[in-house]
Amino acid sequence: MKISTFRTDKLSSEIRGDILELCSLAFGSPFDELFDFVGTSGVHVILHDNSGGLSSHCVVTERTFWIGDRSPMRAGYIDAVATRPNKQGLGYGRAVMAESCRVCKSMGMNIMGLSTFIPEWYGSMGWRVWRGELGLKKGSEIIPVSDVDGVVMLYGLDNSFSLNLSQRLIATWRPNGGW
Ligand SMILES: CC(C)(COP(=O)(O)OP(=O)(O)OC[C@H]1O[C@@H](n2cnc3c(N)ncnc32)[C@H](O)[C@@H]1OP(=O)(O)O)[C@@H](O)C(=O)NCCC(=O)NCCS
Repeated sequence: MKISTFRTDKLSSEIRGDILELCSLAFGSPFDELFDFVGTSGVHVILHDNSGGLSSHCVVTERTFWIGDRSPMRAGYIDAVATRPNKQGLGYGRAVMAESCRVCKSMGMNIMGLSTFIPEWYGSMGWRVWRGELGLKKGSEIIPVSDVDGVVMLYGLDNSFSLNLSQRLIATWRPNGGW
């Protein structure tokens, strides 16, 4: 297998189409809005299997997190984690997640976040469910968030701090308006 990373604005239209097809198949619903909310500077992690087909994907977008009273943190936010249905269970999903951690570390980020309906899977890789209040920062306004899809999970890249999972977590707003 081969893992590659590409910024969104460097993806060919062919790979964009392949990513949307892969995500639609894995999630069982159209994924056409992906490129509307990841912006142009997202970093896509893509895995091709030995036959050359696109088999697994995720995308990292930089956001800022404010946790409790801490200073702002550069966060790698993960979206569109998907493995082609007939290629699942082969370790590809874990491999793209591990690569996304390396990408975030290399960009100097200290934390990662996502929202999910399958916390058990991420939990098995060390991700932790956030229990505190959530908010989005749009300009100077803080908008409380109560309708997250699934649960929010975080992964610390910097072992020098411990996370209090019940504090308030605020993230930069993004175009689709969701968490
Ligand atoms: C979740 C997903 C990306 C995993 O991809 P994958 O390539 O099969 O993952 P891996 O092969 O690395 O890991 C498979 C392991 O995760 C487990 N797993 C898969 N889905 C799971 C789930 N919903 N809950 C708990 N464990 C799960 C499998 O049982 C397997 O366990 P094993 O290693 O003990 O056999 C893939 O199932 C998928 O695309 N699902 C649909 C889209 C989705 O839900 N994405 C995540 C949204 S946040």
